[in-house]
Amino acid sequence: MIPSGDWDVVVIGAGAAGLMTCLELPRNLKVLLLNKNIDVNSSSRWAQGGMASVTRPEDSFQSHIQDTINAGAGLCDRDAVNLMVNEAPKCVERLLRLGMNFDKDFDSLATTLEAAHSFRRVLHVQDRTGGALLDVLGAHVDRQQNISQIRGVEVTQLWVESNACYGVQVFHHNRLYWIASRAVVVATGGGGHLYANTTNPPQACGEGISLAWRAGAVLEDLEFIQFHPTALRLKGAPCFLITEALRGEGAVLKNKLGVSPLGNLPGKDLAPRDQLSRALVECMDSEGIDFINLDVRAIAPEKFQKRFPNILRRCMEFGLDPYKTFIPVAPAAHYWMGGIATDMNAATSIKGLYAVGEVACTGLHGANRLASNSLMECLVFAKQMSNIELNHNMKVSGINNNLSSEDFNQYYKDSQYKLKDLKEKIEYLRDLCWDKVGVNRAEKGMRFALSQINQEDNAINNDQLLELLFRQNKDSILTFKYKENERLRLLLDLSNRKLVSSLLLKAAIFRKESRGGHHRKDFPQKSPFWECHSSQKKGANISTRPIKT
Ligand code: FUM
Repeated sequence: MIPSGDWDVVVIGAGAAGLMTCLELPRNLKVLLLNKNIDVNSSSRWAQGGMASVTRPEDSFQSHIQDTINAGAGLCDRDAVNLMVNEAPKCVERLLRLGMNFDKDFDSLATTLEAAHSFRRVLHVQDRTGGALLDVLGAHVDRQQNISQIRGVEVTQLWVESNACYGVQVFHHNRLYWIASRAVVVATGGGGHLYANTTNPPQACGEGISLAWRAGAVLEDLEFIQFHPTALRLKGAPCFLITEALRGEGAVLKNKLGVSPLGNLPGKDLAPRDQLSRALVECMDSEGIDFINLDVRAIAPEKFQKRFPNILRRCMEFGLDPYKTFIPVAPAAHYWMGGIATDMNAATSIKGLYAVGEVACTGLHGANRLASNSLMECLVFAKQMSNIELNHNMKVSGINNNLSSEDFNQYYKDSQYKLKDLKEKIEYLRDLCWDKVGVNRAEKGMRFALSQINQEDNAINNDQLLELLFRQNKDSILTFKYKENERLRLLLDLSNRKLVSSLLLKAAIFRKESRGGHHRKDFPQKSPFWECHSSQKKGANISTRPIKT
């Protein structure tokens, strides 16, 4: 059961953004950290490459700023870029004080090169930088007296009245209930798992986007998805990130004839991810193959073993010795540039509702994120949470009608689906997104996908289900039987995915040009007319917002 008490801040999500937020919030606040996972999986934990920060004398803030802006393809907001780049070295100092053991080159921090960086500025811990970061942050969160944590809890909706956030509704074990708090921070990560091929874990399904949209928050730039060029594409093996740092250390891509598939692409194997992913898809389409080879032989085996032990282990697990066989790779959904619109204090358009990390859209990444800027963004914007403003008037009792188990029984009767049907529908949606709003998109396919989602019968109706849940009195607890539990969980998952996929499709249909992670076959050029953010909000037409220069 949830520890009782008046919560000042509820933080949803326990990846890098959620944990760092907990540590940066003023210590006099009572903080509740809600983690959907039972295990330790999260996108942050799976992050391999590293964390970008200027630490070397030959590098400069100006260069990191310019590289970020160049990768962002004209859509970066300057205030966010300046903040992230200038604060990054202070965050590195803070991590060192917390006990983060970055790899070293003699006495200084080791740095690697990743795509579109002008200097070696990516700090790392072997090929498990995210895991090392989460271990350090998690240990500090565990020790801090003002923070309570719960695992295995799903947030079903935000408690928002008169555009102010007063807490969350949760589904925990077999119970549904509300938790009041003076502010809520959404740190739920991205939505790679909306796609059939992804480097993200299953919980990265855009849950925070659906919570925020339903509550009436402004969302921005949802059309911009980053497809990582090199995820493992091996029969029988899960889609697994093969870090860009390998190419930074000398690995190269080869087509089936053993030559580079990249032609005259500037930057070659270290070109920005959007360009590289498209070039690989083009090569796979023209050669009729479903993977590209990654040749790692330019990296000495001892160095590979020392620097990339996890990749080596994973490859070997599937019988693949990278020194005997090329690693088969292909693009996969990796990172969502768009998200819940926030200002430089991580505040959303709803009072008392904040968003940090991949779920947020600060304007930092523009249309395409620069490699290894994401973990650092989590830290820098979590740091802004020391300025959090709380809602003073917490409303304790709700005015809604009560909700009973009978209401749910009726709902379940109307929804005839078995668990297996629901799982199949989720997989169908993931294939649909991959095919129609993937590395390349076009109006016809996207409209088809949208119609498929809208055609779904009313038995899985977001609004009906959520309206039902919202009727729960704020001070009541509803208990479910075991079988209903799993059904409710899957129904919520499916309805969230339907909603978020359709928001992504609408944004991608809206932007009639190609830029960064959004490439339209029917509008293949970048257009100055579209040098702006897209903006969506429940009940309003999709619109644009100017870039902050
Ligand atoms: O390739 C990588 O290690 C990915 C890094 C990132 O997404 O920043």
